[in-house]
Amino acid sequence: MTLAPSDLQAPLLLPGAPGSLAGQVRVPGDKSISHRALLFGAIAEGETRIEGLLPAEDPLSTAACLRAMGVAVSPIEAGREVIVQGVGLDGFREPENLLDCGNSGTTMRLMLGLLAGRAGRHFVLTGDASLRRRPMRRVGGPLAQMGATIAGRGGGNLAPLAIAGRQLHGATIRTPVASAQVKSALLLAALTAAGPTTVIEPALSRDHSERMLRAFGADLVVAGPGGTEVTVTPGNTLRGQTVVVPGDISSAAFWLVAAAITPGAALTVENVGLNPSRTGILEVLEQMGARITVLNRRDVAGEPVGDLAVEHGPLRAFTIGGDLIPRLVDEIPVLAVAACCAEGVSTIRGAEELRVKETDRLAVMARQLGAMGARLEEHADGLTIQGVTTLHGAEVDSETDHRVAMSLAVASLVASGDTRLHDSAAAAVSYPGFWDDLARLRR
Ligand code: S3P
Repeated sequence: MTLAPSDLQAPLLLPGAPGSLAGQVRVPGDKSISHRALLFGAIAEGETRIEGLLPAEDPLSTAACLRAMGVAVSPIEAGREVIVQGVGLDGFREPENLLDCGNSGTTMRLMLGLLAGRAGRHFVLTGDASLRRRPMRRVGGPLAQMGATIAGRGGGNLAPLAIAGRQLHGATIRTPVASAQVKSALLLAALTAAGPTTVIEPALSRDHSERMLRAFGADLVVAGPGGTEVTVTPGNTLRGQTVVVPGDISSAAFWLVAAAITPGAALTVENVGLNPSRTGILEVLEQMGARITVLNRRDVAGEPVGDLAVEHGPLRAFTIGGDLIPRLVDEIPVLAVAACCAEGVSTIRGAEELRVKETDRLAVMARQLGAMGARLEEHADGLTIQGVTTLHGAEVDSETDHRVAMSLAVASLVASGDTRLHDSAAAAVSYPGFWDDLARLRR
C-alpha cells in the first residue's frame, strides 16, 4: 500500500481502522536545534559541521537567509553533513533583497535578534501568508529596550519588517511570555550589545540556545528559579563547532501517540532528543498510563538522547496547564487526538499561545477533529475533550499547518472509515518523510 499522494493538490487518502503499527522509526533532526546550529555557525569564526540537520522547509529558510547575507552553507540533504563557514559576529553582508523566512517563525524571530545590532545595514524580513499574520512585536518590543529600530505593519507587529541595524546596549528584560524564540532573539542581540543583558522568562522555555551558545564559547550564565534568568556578557568570540542534532521529540510525538492509541501497535522511535525543557509530552503520556519505556539514554553533544519504545494500552484522561505548557507546546494538537481515545475528560488550559502558531491550533484542531466526531469544547486558552470517542473518517484539512496534518493522520488510524486529508504536503515544513514512514509502519 502506498500513502504518498500522486498529486500533491489532491487530498491524501488515509484508510481508517482496522490496522495497526509496528517497527522502528528514526525521526528527522530537531527543528529548534537545526535552526540554531545554522545561525550560530554563521556568526562563529571558522567552520561548523552539523550532523543530522533537519532537511525540511523551515531550516532551508534559515539557510537561504544566511546565504543571502554572504554565509556559505553547504547543500542540505538527508544523511549529509552540513558545513557552515562562519563570518563572525558582525560579518553579515547587507542583503540585496528581502530575506524570505517562509513558514518559519523561528527563522524570523531569531533573525530579528541577530540583525538588529548590525550597525549601518538595512534588512527586510518577510514570510508566507501564515508568518505574515504572526505577532512579531513580542520580539521587536524587548529589542527596542536595547535600542533596536524595527518597523512593520500594525505598528511594527507584522512582517514585512524593516530593520535599521545599529549598535545596541545591554538591558534587563522581563519577557511577558515563556517563548524560546523571544528569549533566543534577545540572547543573540546581546552578543554584540554594549554591556551585559539579562533575560527573565515567566517560565522556562526550551533552552537549546543557552546550551549551544555556551558550547560555541559565549559568556552566558543561567540563574534564577528553574533556569529562567539568562545573562549574556558580550566580548567573547564564538568558535565553529561540531553539532550533532538529535531526533525531534516533537516529530516523535506523532508516533508515540499513534502507537499508544492504535490497538495492537508497538513502535520504537530511535535517537530522540530528551532535553527536559521538551519532555512534557512524556510526562503527560505517563499520566495517561501509556506504555512507554526510555531505552539507551545517552548524552550527545550537550543534549540528552534516548530511544522510546511504546505500545498500545488503555489510556486515562489528562489535565495540563501552567508551566508544563511551554515544555509541550508543539505537541498539544496530537495530545488532543490522544484525549479522544482516553477514558474521561481531558483539559488543556493556559495554552493561548497556540492561537499564534502557524495557524490558530486551538480553533483548527477543534474544527478538524470535530469533523471526525471528536467531542470537544474550545476555550480562549485551551480545549476540553471527552473520551473515549470513536472517531469517524471525514474530509479534513491541515489548513496549511504541518503539525495539524500529522495529528489528523494519527487520528485517522483509529477512525472508522477513510479520511481524506487536504494539504498533507504541509508536513514537509518539519517532517518531509512522514508519509513514507507512516506507509512503512502500517500493518
Ligand atoms: C521554538 C519555540 C517555540 C515552538 C517553535 C520552535 C524554537 O515557539 O513552538 O516550534 O525553536 O525556539 P515559541 O517561542 O513561540 O514558544
